[in-house]
Amino acid sequence: MTDSKKALIIGASRGIGLGVVDVLTKRGWQVTATTRDAVPAKAPASVEWVKLDINKSEAREAVKDALSASHFDLIFVNAGVFGPDHQDIHQASDEEIIQLFLTNAISPVRCAAQLLPLLNHRTGVLALMTSELSSLNENEVATYPLYSASKAALNMLTRGLQEQTEKQEVTLLSVHPGWVQTDMGGESATLTIEESSTGIVDQFEALSGKGGHHFVEYSGRKLRW
Ligand SMILES: NC(=O)c1ccc[n+]([C@@H]2O[C@H](COP(=O)([O-])OP(=O)(O)OC[C@H]3O[C@@H](n4cnc5c(N)ncnc54)[C@H](OP(=O)(O)O)[C@@H]3O)[C@@H](O)[C@H]2O)c1
Repeated sequence: MTDSKKALIIGASRGIGLGVVDVLTKRGWQVTATTRDAVPAKAPASVEWVKLDINKSEAREAVKDALSASHFDLIFVNAGVFGPDHQDIHQASDEEIIQLFLTNAISPVRCAAQLLPLLNHRTGVLALMTSELSSLNENEVATYPLYSASKAALNMLTRGLQEQTEKQEVTLLSVHPGWVQTDMGGESATLTIEESSTGIVDQFEALSGKGGHHFVEYSGRKLRW
Protein backbone atom coordinates (compact mmCIF):
# COMPACT_ATOMS: atom_id res chain seq x y z
CA MET A 1 0.00 0.00 0.00
CA THR A 2 2.98 2.36 0.54
CA ASP A 3 3.36 3.00 -3.21
CA SER A 4 -0.34 3.78 -3.68
CA LYS A 5 -1.29 7.10 -5.16
CA LYS A 6 -3.10 9.40 -2.76
CA ALA A 7 -6.24 11.44 -3.42
CA LEU A 8 -8.19 14.02 -1.45
CA ILE A 9 -11.85 14.34 -2.50
CA ILE A 10 -13.78 17.31 -1.13
CA GLY A 11 -17.55 16.73 -0.93
CA ALA A 12 -17.86 12.95 -1.14
CA SER A 13 -20.91 12.10 0.98
CA ARG A 14 -22.99 11.02 -2.05
CA GLY A 15 -23.42 11.40 -5.81
CA ILE A 16 -20.40 11.82 -8.08
CA GLY A 17 -18.00 12.59 -5.21
CA LEU A 18 -18.69 9.21 -3.61
CA GLY A 19 -18.58 7.58 -7.07
CA VAL A 20 -15.08 8.97 -7.68
CA VAL A 21 -14.00 7.70 -4.24
CA ASP A 22 -15.26 4.21 -5.22
CA VAL A 23 -13.44 4.17 -8.57
CA LEU A 24 -10.16 5.45 -7.11
CA THR A 25 -10.29 2.90 -4.29
CA LYS A 26 -10.93 0.05 -6.76
CA ARG A 27 -7.88 1.21 -8.75
CA GLY A 28 -5.70 0.98 -5.63
CA TRP A 29 -5.56 4.66 -4.67
CA GLN A 30 -5.40 5.61 -1.01
CA VAL A 31 -8.29 8.05 -0.52
CA THR A 32 -9.02 10.76 2.02
CA ALA A 33 -12.51 12.21 1.59
CA THR A 34 -14.64 14.86 3.25
CA THR A 35 -18.24 14.88 4.40
CA ARG A 36 -20.31 17.51 6.20
CA ASP A 37 -22.13 14.84 8.18
CA ALA A 38 -21.96 11.12 8.82
CA VAL A 39 -19.63 8.85 6.87
CA PRO A 40 -21.73 7.43 3.99
CA ALA A 41 -22.92 3.86 4.64
CA LYS A 42 -21.74 2.59 1.21
CA ALA A 43 -18.20 4.02 1.50
CA PRO A 44 -15.24 1.70 0.96
CA ALA A 45 -13.72 0.70 4.32
CA SER A 46 -10.20 1.92 3.46
CA VAL A 47 -11.20 5.59 3.07
CA GLU A 48 -10.07 8.11 5.68
CA TRP A 49 -12.90 10.57 6.40
CA VAL A 50 -12.58 14.19 7.50
CA LYS A 51 -15.44 16.58 8.38
CA LEU A 52 -15.70 19.71 6.23
CA ASP A 53 -18.32 22.27 5.31
CA ILE A 54 -16.45 24.16 2.60
CA ASN A 55 -18.25 27.42 3.48
CA LYS A 56 -16.78 27.52 7.00
CA SER A 57 -13.33 29.14 7.04
CA GLU A 58 -12.40 27.69 10.45
CA ALA A 59 -13.30 24.19 9.20
CA ARG A 60 -11.13 24.67 6.09
CA GLU A 61 -8.23 25.77 8.31
CA ALA A 62 -8.74 22.75 10.60
CA VAL A 63 -8.65 20.33 7.64
CA LYS A 64 -5.54 22.01 6.25
CA ASP A 65 -3.83 21.65 9.65
CA ALA A 66 -4.99 18.04 10.12
CA LEU A 67 -3.60 17.07 6.69
CA SER A 68 -0.44 19.22 6.82
CA ALA A 69 1.88 16.19 6.86
CA SER A 70 0.14 14.57 3.85
CA HIS A 71 1.08 14.69 0.18
CA PHE A 72 -1.50 14.06 -2.54
CA ASP A 73 -1.33 13.12 -6.21
CA LEU A 74 -4.87 14.42 -6.72
CA ILE A 75 -7.02 17.03 -4.99
CA PHE A 76 -10.59 17.15 -6.35
CA VAL A 77 -13.03 19.80 -5.11
CA ASN A 78 -16.38 18.30 -6.09
CA ALA A 79 -18.88 19.89 -3.65
CA GLY A 80 -21.64 21.94 -5.23
CA VAL A 81 -25.32 22.89 -5.07
CA PHE A 82 -27.98 23.72 -7.68
CA GLY A 83 -29.59 26.73 -5.99
CA PRO A 84 -33.32 27.45 -6.11
CA ASP A 85 -35.29 25.10 -8.44
CA HIS A 86 -36.94 28.02 -10.27
CA GLN A 87 -33.51 29.46 -11.26
CA ASP A 88 -35.14 32.90 -11.57
CA ILE A 89 -32.95 35.82 -10.54
CA HIS A 90 -36.02 37.92 -9.75
CA GLN A 91 -37.62 35.35 -7.43
CA ALA A 92 -34.42 34.31 -5.67
CA SER A 93 -33.61 36.03 -2.40
CA ASP A 94 -30.24 37.75 -1.98
CA GLU A 95 -29.38 35.16 0.68
CA GLU A 96 -30.10 32.26 -1.74
CA ILE A 97 -27.88 33.83 -4.40
CA ILE A 98 -25.10 34.53 -1.89
CA GLN A 99 -25.19 30.90 -0.66
CA LEU A 100 -25.15 29.58 -4.25
CA PHE A 101 -22.13 31.65 -5.30
CA LEU A 102 -20.36 31.04 -2.00
CA THR A 103 -20.76 27.24 -2.29
CA ASN A 104 -20.13 26.86 -6.03
CA ALA A 105 -17.52 29.55 -6.76
CA ILE A 106 -15.86 31.17 -3.73
CA SER A 107 -15.42 28.30 -1.24
CA PRO A 108 -14.17 25.67 -3.73
CA VAL A 109 -11.38 27.99 -4.86
CA ARG A 110 -10.49 29.00 -1.31
CA CYS A 111 -10.33 25.30 -0.42
CA ALA A 112 -8.20 24.53 -3.46
CA ALA A 113 -5.77 27.39 -2.78
CA GLN A 114 -5.38 26.40 0.87
CA LEU A 115 -4.75 22.73 0.08
CA LEU A 116 -2.61 23.21 -3.03
CA PRO A 117 0.70 23.13 -1.08
CA LEU A 118 -0.12 19.48 -0.23
CA LEU A 119 -0.15 18.50 -3.92
CA ASN A 120 2.91 16.71 -5.33
CA HIS A 121 4.89 18.82 -7.77
CA ARG A 122 4.81 18.00 -11.51
CA THR A 123 2.57 14.90 -11.46
CA GLY A 124 -0.08 16.40 -9.15
CA VAL A 125 -3.61 17.19 -10.42
CA LEU A 126 -5.81 19.89 -8.92
CA ALA A 127 -9.39 19.49 -10.21
CA LEU A 128 -12.51 21.54 -9.56
CA MET A 129 -15.97 20.31 -10.53
CA THR A 130 -17.70 22.73 -12.87
CA SER A 131 -20.37 22.09 -15.54
CA GLU A 132 -20.57 22.58 -19.31
CA LEU A 133 -23.49 24.90 -18.48
CA SER A 134 -20.90 27.38 -17.17
CA SER A 135 -19.61 28.00 -20.69
CA LEU A 136 -20.83 30.97 -22.79
CA ASN A 137 -20.04 28.86 -25.88
CA GLU A 138 -21.57 25.55 -24.72
CA ASN A 139 -24.67 27.10 -23.03
CA GLU A 140 -25.81 29.71 -25.56
CA VAL A 141 -29.37 30.05 -24.20
CA ALA A 142 -28.42 30.40 -20.51
CA THR A 143 -30.05 27.16 -19.35
CA TYR A 144 -30.35 27.23 -15.51
CA PRO A 145 -28.92 30.78 -15.36
CA LEU A 146 -28.20 31.09 -11.64
CA TYR A 147 -26.47 27.71 -11.34
CA SER A 148 -24.61 28.26 -14.63
CA ALA A 149 -23.46 31.76 -13.60
CA SER A 150 -22.09 30.41 -10.32
CA LYS A 151 -20.07 27.79 -12.21
CA ALA A 152 -18.89 30.44 -14.73
CA ALA A 153 -17.60 32.43 -11.76
CA LEU A 154 -15.91 29.26 -10.51
CA ASN A 155 -14.13 28.83 -13.86
CA MET A 156 -12.64 32.33 -13.76
CA LEU A 157 -11.59 32.02 -10.11
CA THR A 158 -10.07 28.64 -10.98
CA ARG A 159 -8.12 30.36 -13.78
CA GLY A 160 -6.87 32.69 -11.04
CA LEU A 161 -5.14 29.69 -9.42
CA GLN A 162 -3.02 29.16 -12.51
CA GLU A 163 -0.08 31.28 -11.36
CA GLN A 164 0.21 29.07 -8.26
CA THR A 165 -0.33 25.79 -10.14
CA GLU A 166 2.30 26.76 -12.74
CA LYS A 167 4.82 27.44 -9.96
CA GLN A 168 4.15 23.95 -8.61
CA GLU A 169 4.14 22.58 -12.19
CA VAL A 170 0.88 20.72 -11.51
CA THR A 171 -2.10 20.23 -13.83
CA LEU A 172 -5.24 22.31 -13.25
CA LEU A 173 -8.60 20.87 -14.40
CA SER A 174 -12.11 22.24 -14.67
CA VAL A 175 -14.20 19.06 -14.94
CA HIS A 176 -17.66 18.47 -16.45
CA PRO A 177 -19.11 15.12 -15.32
CA GLY A 178 -21.79 14.81 -18.04
CA TRP A 179 -25.47 14.67 -17.03
CA VAL A 180 -25.49 12.23 -14.13
CA GLN A 181 -28.18 10.32 -12.17
CA THR A 182 -27.68 11.93 -8.76
CA ASP A 183 -29.88 13.92 -6.37
CA MET A 184 -28.86 16.98 -8.41
CA GLY A 185 -28.96 15.47 -11.90
CA GLY A 186 -32.26 13.59 -11.40
CA GLU A 187 -33.46 10.20 -12.67
CA SER A 188 -33.68 11.20 -16.36
CA ALA A 189 -29.97 11.94 -16.58
CA THR A 190 -28.10 10.00 -19.26
CA LEU A 191 -25.16 8.70 -17.20
CA THR A 192 -24.91 6.50 -14.13
CA ILE A 193 -22.65 7.64 -11.31
CA GLU A 194 -20.29 4.77 -12.14
CA GLU A 195 -20.02 5.75 -15.84
CA SER A 196 -19.31 9.39 -15.06
CA SER A 197 -16.93 8.68 -12.18
CA THR A 198 -14.96 6.12 -14.21
CA GLY A 199 -14.52 8.66 -17.01
CA ILE A 200 -13.53 11.43 -14.58
CA VAL A 201 -10.85 9.24 -12.98
CA ASP A 202 -9.61 8.27 -16.48
CA GLN A 203 -9.09 12.02 -17.16
CA PHE A 204 -7.23 12.53 -13.86
CA GLU A 205 -4.87 9.70 -14.78
CA ALA A 206 -4.48 10.75 -18.44
CA LEU A 207 -3.79 14.43 -17.73
CA SER A 208 -1.35 13.98 -14.83
CA GLY A 209 2.00 15.53 -15.77
CA LYS A 210 0.55 17.61 -18.65
CA GLY A 211 0.49 20.98 -16.82
CA GLY A 212 -1.76 23.89 -17.91
CA HIS A 213 -5.47 24.48 -17.29
CA HIS A 214 -7.94 22.21 -19.13
CA PHE A 215 -11.75 22.30 -19.35
CA VAL A 216 -12.57 18.65 -19.92
CA GLU A 217 -15.59 16.37 -19.60
CA TYR A 218 -15.69 12.83 -18.22
CA SER A 219 -15.30 11.38 -21.75
CA GLY A 220 -12.09 13.30 -22.45
CA ARG A 221 -13.80 15.80 -24.80
CA LYS A 222 -12.28 19.28 -24.44
CA LEU A 223 -14.93 21.95 -23.83
CA ARG A 224 -14.95 25.57 -25.02
CA TRP A 225 -14.87 28.22 -22.29
N1 LIG B 1 -25.30 15.59 -11.59
C1 LIG B 1 -25.01 16.25 -12.70
O1 LIG B 1 -25.60 15.98 -13.76
C2 LIG B 1 -23.99 17.33 -12.70
C3 LIG B 1 -23.71 17.99 -13.92
C4 LIG B 1 -22.73 18.96 -13.95
C5 LIG B 1 -22.02 19.29 -12.79
N2 LIG B 1 -22.32 18.66 -11.61
C6 LIG B 1 -21.54 19.04 -10.43
O2 LIG B 1 -20.98 17.87 -9.85
C7 LIG B 1 -20.79 18.04 -8.43
C8 LIG B 1 -21.44 16.89 -7.69
O3 LIG B 1 -22.81 16.89 -8.04
P1 LIG B 1 -23.79 15.66 -7.75
O4 LIG B 1 -24.64 15.54 -8.95
O5 LIG B 1 -23.06 14.50 -7.24
O6 LIG B 1 -24.69 16.33 -6.61
P2 LIG B 1 -25.25 15.78 -5.21
O7 LIG B 1 -25.60 14.35 -5.29
O8 LIG B 1 -26.29 16.78 -4.84
O9 LIG B 1 -23.97 15.91 -4.23
C9 LIG B 1 -23.45 17.17 -3.91
C10 LIG B 1 -22.28 16.96 -2.97
O10 LIG B 1 -21.76 18.25 -2.59
C11 LIG B 1 -21.70 18.30 -1.17
N3 LIG B 1 -21.82 19.69 -0.66
C12 LIG B 1 -22.76 20.61 -0.97
N4 LIG B 1 -22.54 21.74 -0.26
C13 LIG B 1 -21.44 21.53 0.51
C14 LIG B 1 -20.72 22.29 1.45
N5 LIG B 1 -21.09 23.54 1.79
N6 LIG B 1 -19.64 21.75 2.04
C15 LIG B 1 -19.24 20.48 1.74
N7 LIG B 1 -19.89 19.69 0.86
C16 LIG B 1 -20.98 20.21 0.25
C17 LIG B 1 -22.87 17.45 -0.72
O11 LIG B 1 -22.73 17.14 0.66
P3 LIG B 1 -24.05 16.91 1.61
O12 LIG B 1 -24.44 15.47 1.43
O13 LIG B 1 -23.54 17.24 2.96
O14 LIG B 1 -25.12 17.85 1.14
C18 LIG B 1 -22.70 16.27 -1.66
O15 LIG B 1 -21.66 15.41 -1.24
C19 LIG B 1 -21.40 19.41 -8.11
O16 LIG B 1 -20.37 20.38 -8.07
C20 LIG B 1 -22.32 19.68 -9.30
O17 LIG B 1 -22.56 21.05 -9.50
C21 LIG B 1 -23.28 17.69 -11.54
